[in-house]
Amino acid sequence: MSDEDVELEARLEEQEVFEPSDSFVEQANVSDAGIYDEFEENWPECWEQAAELLDWEEEYDQVLDNSNPPFYEWFTDGTINASTNCLDRHLDERGDEAAIEWVGEPVDEDNVTLTYSELHEKVNEAAAALRDLGVGEDDVVTMYMPMIPELPIAMLACARIGAPHSVVFAGFSADALATRMNAADSEYLVTCDGYYRRGDPLDHLDKANEGLSGVEHDTETVVVDRLGPNGDDFGHDLAEDQHDWGELMAAHEGAEVEPVDRDAEDMLFLMYTSGTTGEPKGVKHTTGGYLSWTAWTSQAVLDIKPEDTYFCSADIGWITGHSYIVYGPLALGTTTMMYEGTPDHPDRDRLWEIVEEYEANQLYTAPTAIRAFMKWGTEYPDEHDLSSLRLLGTVGEPINPRAWKWYYKHIGNEECPVVDTWWQTETGGMMVTTLPGVKDMKPGSAGPPLPGLDARIVDTNGEEVDPGRAGYLTVNKPWPGMLRTLYKNDERFIEEYWAEYSDTDSSNSDDWVYFPEDGAKIDEDGYITVLGRVDDVINVSGHRLGTMEIESAIVGVEGVAEAAVVGGDHEVKGEAVYAYVITEEGQEETDEFREEIVQGVLDAIGPIARPEQVIFTPELPKTRSGKIMRRLLEDIANEEDLGDTSTLRNPEIVEDIRKVVQED
Ligand code: WT7
Repeated sequence: MSDEDVELEARLEEQEVFEPSDSFVEQANVSDAGIYDEFEENWPECWEQAAELLDWEEEYDQVLDNSNPPFYEWFTDGTINASTNCLDRHLDERGDEAAIEWVGEPVDEDNVTLTYSELHEKVNEAAAALRDLGVGEDDVVTMYMPMIPELPIAMLACARIGAPHSVVFAGFSADALATRMNAADSEYLVTCDGYYRRGDPLDHLDKANEGLSGVEHDTETVVVDRLGPNGDDFGHDLAEDQHDWGELMAAHEGAEVEPVDRDAEDMLFLMYTSGTTGEPKGVKHTTGGYLSWTAWTSQAVLDIKPEDTYFCSADIGWITGHSYIVYGPLALGTTTMMYEGTPDHPDRDRLWEIVEEYEANQLYTAPTAIRAFMKWGTEYPDEHDLSSLRLLGTVGEPINPRAWKWYYKHIGNEECPVVDTWWQTETGGMMVTTLPGVKDMKPGSAGPPLPGLDARIVDTNGEEVDPGRAGYLTVNKPWPGMLRTLYKNDERFIEEYWAEYSDTDSSNSDDWVYFPEDGAKIDEDGYITVLGRVDDVINVSGHRLGTMEIESAIVGVEGVAEAAVVGGDHEVKGEAVYAYVITEEGQEETDEFREEIVQGVLDAIGPIARPEQVIFTPELPKTRSGKIMRRLLEDIANEEDLGDTSTLRNPEIVEDIRKVVQED
């Protein structure tokens, strides 16, 4: 490093508050600080501003119906179609502009640009094809696809005909697919033959077929030929209830499908996410509220304008991709990028190469990626012209100030504001973050709640804690993008998100408080620092995993008697999976058996849940009432001070476990 660089690093390290640059503020979609007061005074009518970003078929009567909390309804009796909003209404002005820039794995340079007209055409053909297969309004269509253009095409086709989609991340296992299709009674699946990972073809249909064999009802499947006719095929024959996407599209060439008028409260999609129990939660999002929320936050926080090229590096299989690759950006008529590959293939400058080539204006990524970039070194971004970037964003997990500053300096050249956006699958879109054209940034802190939101940090009694003290994050007013329920399980919806801090007997909406299961603290300026989950959910590389799900996968392995899974600190992933395992009598504790256990997790969930370490232990630390002391196991994994262990039934076990972990 030059002297100048060293000086700069030192200055950055000390700086705690960063102002957005004048040049950013001047052009920002939102730059008037009055928006906070305005929204507070005018709540909930302030959310008309979000609804006004959309085209409604039938105007809504009421912004919010809060007469039956926590079953809130937004924009009541309005009707709207999401695909019309993402496509048709842009055709006149932006028909020839790119809607999606798809960058494939660099196998045969087959990148695809889909203009709004082209995307509209394909979505219509796909909608006609799905309808022909029998998909009707309100039928749940599952999608199990990687980052290929057919995924958003299929999603928007479903939206057009009023069929909710349920996208299952392609990296999830066959079991995970079956569980989700069964839970949603989903009779339709759209998947693909395979895809490329770091240059090598992967057999995806094999996994999909295995999943389908675990589905309890009849299904129809559509298979996209991603690998193409030239070689890399795995030689699958399609079964009778399986149809080739290309043939279906050809059979419906030029088809036009009248968009179905959906009630604002009709389901747009389901997304399964992990919770405290082993059973994934089917989060239900609606058409009017969700689309308003993603459009408004895309505009206000990501500062998206139609002429931008916007790049979010998430996977559409997660909520980030739904909200901020597909629905928000397309509702605003911008160009949204989709990248199929990984950031390190063919080299570690892949993202920067893409940013440069496409002159991306925003980059929205995860702290885990930023920590990896930091580790790889500045030479990779330095090779590229990143001056097209205007704004940077992060999501998915807390970002440490060092990583924030690295991102700010080496990617944003100290000119781009960084928005650290806290939200969840359940919130539909961003909740706590700075507005980049209005507020100063504080690395490590997401920022204040967005205008019109009331978020507080409370103690176990629901009393607000003083600034600087750790407490629990709560959201005290409803918002349009919120989940409406857990699919077919209103009771669990109340139990999981509301029971903790609400007066559940009350029909007054003021007595209802949403609890996201995150710990947090707030500072004197109202900036919130999110500390992490307080339930049995761990966050590996920004992906949410239920410890119970992993544990049940492990105890499913023959020879395992009991298992406890916790998250331990990890330099790049944020958290990593640590599995403590008690074997059955006679089962040898070998490395091969460790491998079997790991394989059990991969089969049940997928590679994202791969245990970092499998630790054999004769016992697990338990309280006198028999509850496993996870906190203690976490501390062992992190080599922290264990504090008082005398309340344990078996305190001596702690030292034994600790020894094993340190030896490994
Ligand atoms: C959990 C939600 C939001 C879309 C991707 C993840 C954690 C998310 C932040 C952030 C600190 C964050 C929380 C939250 N989280 N964003 N900016 N700072 N923590 O969605 O899978 O539903 O996970 O991710 O713990 O509860 P998700």
